[in-house]
Amino acid sequence: MTKDFLETPLLDILSQSAHRKHAAFYAPGHKQGKGISHKIRDLIGQQVFQADLPELPELDNLFASVGAIAAAQELAAQTFGATKTWFLINGSTSGIIAAILATCGMGEKIILPRNIHQSAIAGLILSGAIPIFINPEYDPQEELAYNVTPAAVKQALEQHPDTKAVMMLHPTYQGICSDLKAIADITHSYQIPLLVDEAHGAHFTFHADLPPSAMSLGADLTVQSTHKTLSSMTQSSMLHLQGNRVCSQRISKALQLVQSTSPSYLLLASLDAARQQMATEGKELMNQAIALANQARHKIAEIPKLSVLNPQIQPGCHYCDPTRLTINVSQLGITGFEADEILHEQLNVTCELPLLKHLTFIISLGNTQEDIQQLIAACETLTSLALSFQLSALSYRIKPYQGQLSAITPRQAYFMSTETVQIEQAGDRLCGELICPYPPGIPVLMPGEVITSEVVNYLKQIVAAGGTITGCNDPRLRTIQTLK
Ligand SMILES: Cc1ncc(COP(=O)(O)O)c(C=O)c1O
Repeated sequence: MTKDFLETPLLDILSQSAHRKHAAFYAPGHKQGKGISHKIRDLIGQQVFQADLPELPELDNLFASVGAIAAAQELAAQTFGATKTWFLINGSTSGIIAAILATCGMGEKIILPRNIHQSAIAGLILSGAIPIFINPEYDPQEELAYNVTPAAVKQALEQHPDTKAVMMLHPTYQGICSDLKAIADITHSYQIPLLVDEAHGAHFTFHADLPPSAMSLGADLTVQSTHKTLSSMTQSSMLHLQGNRVCSQRISKALQLVQSTSPSYLLLASLDAARQQMATEGKELMNQAIALANQARHKIAEIPKLSVLNPQIQPGCHYCDPTRLTINVSQLGITGFEADEILHEQLNVTCELPLLKHLTFIISLGNTQEDIQQLIAACETLTSLALSFQLSALSYRIKPYQGQLSAITPRQAYFMSTETVQIEQAGDRLCGELICPYPPGIPVLMPGEVITSEVVNYLKQIVAAGGTITGCNDPRLRTIQTLK
């Protein structure tokens, strides 16, 4: 390890600025915390605000970086195996939108999996690109969407050789990764870039027992939510680029469109700190997270009526992240949403993602042995409580994410007039809004898609089971906006 990796150029300069005594006549209005409400001071103290500074001359400029931000981004590029890295302060959401804007224009095609995050749909609406969706492989036993196969990408490219870019998920929410190296090779044989939504894989670079990172498998561009699996603050992410299939200037231009002109230095410095932490202690920290996750996985698998997702190598699953723990609770006779409520409200254990049958937990460098003991004990209690559960009346045999695109692009549909229709009468009409159970934020219907009876059924069951639907005018989904 070179000495540079130990350095935190942005964090250091921010620390100096935060401690410089001066009279401040600039925004933000709290003036290093002197003007904050006592309620927020009681929760997080004044010190955080002391470092909440704007683009002072010594702090560089996110959109024209030549100083401390540029140095911190360069160290990040070296750490994550990229040629260039951009720090993001509007989450991976902004990076994914920018990746699409930088590679696809109005009416140009992009291939992407149907279970893509809603930020990619936002990218389609803003760019006017035409999506060519690939349905991910589906595990009928678990009723979970896995990932897409290289053969499916090859077939889509053969059918649409004029495609401008391919975007893949690496990994899915449950930690499932496709054979991204093979997909990169196929994509590059068409001289087009492979873009990756690696929101859940920022930790992959740091341990051989984790799936390889998208950069190491040949992606041209990847976007990582550093805040999801590493230690930076919420909303802070990174976009990494390698090679010259994607124009670096187009990325910078797109990021200026979709990010705040007042970037938070707290977020930026937290990215610098998280990068330094991983460059210096990453392997050890990942060793610990993997060991904790394995311990939880083995113990919970022994609890009656609970099963732990263990996808073997099969289509759509080439690697699996061992730090992602997904538990199937359906044998308890309750939904994942009900199990989540009991765990959160009664047993003080909170998961990342409840679904109809599953709960997914993120085990990261921040978890402790005590957390794992508490999780195992809570799962045992949940099972013993199960005797008193009323068997859920839900029928589980539903297959989500089977969208039926019409000839209208997401952008055209987004700007068309809509009308409110009772959900029961919406069958076969075109959807006028983005309907997305949250989490995981994967759209079930997007503007311009055909509202099939299967999708209506699926959404109704999510609402009935206590899930949240976002993006629609009526979150209880008694009505839906359709295109006129
Ligand atoms: C698969 C996936 N991609 C992208 C995002 C967006 O990431 P961010 O929250 O950093 O904007 C998320 C967020 O949950 C996600 O799950």
